[in-house]
This record gives sequence, C-alpha cells and structure tokens, in this order.
Amino acid sequence: MEQYIIKGGNTLAGEVEIGGAKNAALAILAAANMTNETVHIDNLPDVRDINALLEAMEGIGAHIERIDRHTVTVNGSGVENFIVESESMKKIRASYYLLGALLGKYKKAQVPLPGGCNIGSRPIDQHLKGFKAMGAVTKVEHGFIIAEAKTLHGAHIFLDMVSVGATINIMMAAAMAEGNTTIENAAKEPHVVDVANFLNSMGASIKGAGTDVIRIRGVKSLHKTEYSIIPDQIEAGTFMFAAAVTGGDIVLHNVIPKHLEATSAKLLELGCTVHEYDDAIRVIGPKKLLATHVKTMPYPGFPTDMQPQIAVSLALADGTSIVTESIFENRFRYVDELARMGASVKVEGNIAVISGVEKFTGARVSAPDLRAGAALVIAGLAAEGITIVDDIYYIERGYENLDKKLKALGAVIEKVASEKEIQKFQLKVG
Ligand code: UD1
Repeated sequence: MEQYIIKGGNTLAGEVEIGGAKNAALAILAAANMTNETVHIDNLPDVRDINALLEAMEGIGAHIERIDRHTVTVNGSGVENFIVESESMKKIRASYYLLGALLGKYKKAQVPLPGGCNIGSRPIDQHLKGFKAMGAVTKVEHGFIIAEAKTLHGAHIFLDMVSVGATINIMMAAAMAEGNTTIENAAKEPHVVDVANFLNSMGASIKGAGTDVIRIRGVKSLHKTEYSIIPDQIEAGTFMFAAAVTGGDIVLHNVIPKHLEATSAKLLELGCTVHEYDDAIRVIGPKKLLATHVKTMPYPGFPTDMQPQIAVSLALADGTSIVTESIFENRFRYVDELARMGASVKVEGNIAVISGVEKFTGARVSAPDLRAGAALVIAGLAAEGITIVDDIYYIERGYENLDKKLKALGAVIEKVASEKEIQKFQLKVG
C-alpha cells in the first residue's frame, strides 16, 4: 500500500502541463473498437483506469500498441469475444462503455456490472433504457450485464436525468444502428462532445453534441482516424485549487479555459485572480480565501468532480460556506477525514455547511475515492506540519504523477510505501 506524505505550508508556484481527459479517453478507447481499421489516439493519460480498460480490450481480442506513454493504436478487427471478463474491469465504472461500443458494432455485449468510486448508488437504468429503445434485449446475470439485438434501430430517447454515461453509451450504439436516433435531455459535458467528434472522425454522423438534443444517423461501418483527446478539466481544476489554498501562482498549460469557466468563476468568488489565455490559465491565490456557496450541476454548472476540492478550499475561507451536492448522494465521505485536520464541516443530507478555520494541521487521513483523495492532498499542501494520505490507489486511478507535478511546483511531497519510508521523510523534512 502506498501513501503520499506531505509537508504543508509551501506556496506553490510555477508551470504545470495538464494531461488528457480520463473520462473522455475511457469512452474514446471503447469506441475505437468499433472499426476494423487501426485508430491512433494521443494525449491519453497514463492512469490506472485507462490501463485497466486497455487490458480488458486486449482480453476481448483488440490489438493495442503503445507508441509512447500517451499514445496508443487500437485495432479492433480481432475482437471476437464479446464477454468482457476482467477483474480490473469491475473496479472501473466506465467498463460500461464497452457495452455501447460492442452492441453498436456486433449487436451483442456482456460486461461486468460497473464498479468505480463509491460515491452513490449510480444506477445505469438510463443506458439500458436507451439500448432497449433501439431494439436490444438486456438482462443482468451472474454479475454481468448482457445486451443483445437482432438488429439495432434508431429511436427517440428522452433521458429521465442528465447522464454523461448514458448519453455517450447510447450515442456509441446509435452510431452504428439502422436509421436515426435522437437523444433528448442529453449531457453537454466537454467529453460528450469529444467522443462525438471522435466518432465523427471515424465516419459517424452525430450532430448537436454539446447541446441537450443529439441527433445520430446510423452508418454501416466506421473507419480509421487519428485523434487527440481534450485536456482534463478536473485535473486542471485540482491544480487551480492547489494554487488557491497555498496562496500560490500556477500557470496551467494544455487546458481549454472555456471548459473551466465554472471553476474559474468560483475561484474569483474565493478571492483568487484568474488570467485566461488561449490554451493556458493562471491562478493566483489570495492571502486569505473568501467564503462562498456552491451547488454541483451538470455542465456548464460546477462539476461534482470538483466538489471536494472546492470544499477543502472553503474550509480555509473567511466565513461560512454552503456546498450542495446535487449529482451523487454519497459524496461527502471525505469530511470526517478533513475534520482530523481541523476543518469544521457539518453535513446534512446533500448539504455541507462549512465554517472556515484559520489553518489545517497535518494528520493521517485516507482517500475515500478518487477526487476526494486529491482534495485531501490539497488540504495537506495547505496544512501546518505533516499529512499522510493513505489509499492513494484511488487517486492514481485518475491523476498521472500528481506527486511529481506538485513537487515541480514547490510542494514537499513523496510517494512512500512503508512506515520506514515515512519515518525517513519525517527525519528529512524535520
Ligand atoms: C461521469 C463521470 C464522473 C462524473 C459524472 C458526473 C466518467 C467515467 N465518469 O459519471 O466522473 O462525476 O459523470 O459528471 O465519465 N443516473 C441514473 N441512471 C443512469 C445514469 C445515471 O440514475 O442510468 C444518475 C446517477 O446516479 C447520478 C446522475 O444520474 O446521480 C449523473 O450520473 P452520470 O452523469 O451518468 O455519471 P457517470 O456517467 O456515471
């Protein structure tokens, strides 16, 4: 088991390169199996979730070549097994994207019920509703979701709630269905648009991605493409809050500032200075953060994946803030950990009332999920003394070299794997 050990109190300053969007990459890799030709994908983040999906794709017969750390080619012509049977797949929620991709191309798929972060019950009824409307039969047996169709046809699908996963999954299946599909109340997240652009570059006909009505004309086959994945708005946002809590000055490169508007707007309310450039953004933290209120919403609202990071920042702000989580019901599990560092947060259902404190003090805490884990690291950067974050396995699902990138900005942080290494660090930093 590895940990991050952090000596807080340093002001972070400098430049950081943001990687490709994990959540876009997961869907794009799954969709790459929908052609028999070789697809070239770059700006891929080298994180656990991505590597687990690549492994599972090889397990069903796809040929993957790793050109370099952030570039792969995928050739799905060898896919002949539609049963995705990989232990690692159970751990990542996006295993369900193989359902839409394989159903679209081969009209059948069997995928383990999704796992991923424990941040709520996370049903996939809307995905299945879409597949059924297109003529598929779906069932759950022995821990697998099985979807099959004699022919997959276009349909008019109205999603009951805005779901990123359902929108993308239905879009993939519909790309190779017979006829036209309309998805209403579709998710508008940047990665929905990225997956649509990717499919279109393979010859699909998808219009309206980025609005709440997406229209797809099914095509018979898809072809090769070369594609670069969009930057990760959540990784970027995490560094923006790291600048905020440390009174730092960080320039982030390889970002799309438009995708970060909700985050930037909140940082301004917190008292930060934010400068936007074409593909870079600079955040300067204030001497003292200001309290504000925030409610998570589907894009373009404030992302639920940034909720723990802003909450950590508000816990150090001057005054009382209210954070409302409206997407997932179980996303305040980090609050008890943060309390160990001196934060004052009261959770009532999906609302957290945060009374800002003067400072955090370092403590041993454990990452309850991916984004909350990153938020605890941010808390450690701002804390007085030493913080140890356990269970960083979660953090590494979605952040590439978080420790190294923070170190380059002036943080005192190490990845350690034993009590001995922890003691060594403590001796070193005093
Ligand atoms: C994706 C992201 C995740 C992010 C979330 C919201 C990936 C791999 N994960 O998750 O990081 O936090 O979007 O931006 O891209 N729902 C249902 N039935 C369904 C589908 C969803 O009830 O069939 C509910 C969910 O429980 C949740 C809400 O709809 O309350 C939104 O979920 P959704 O957008 O689908 O999230 P994911 O795609 O799972």
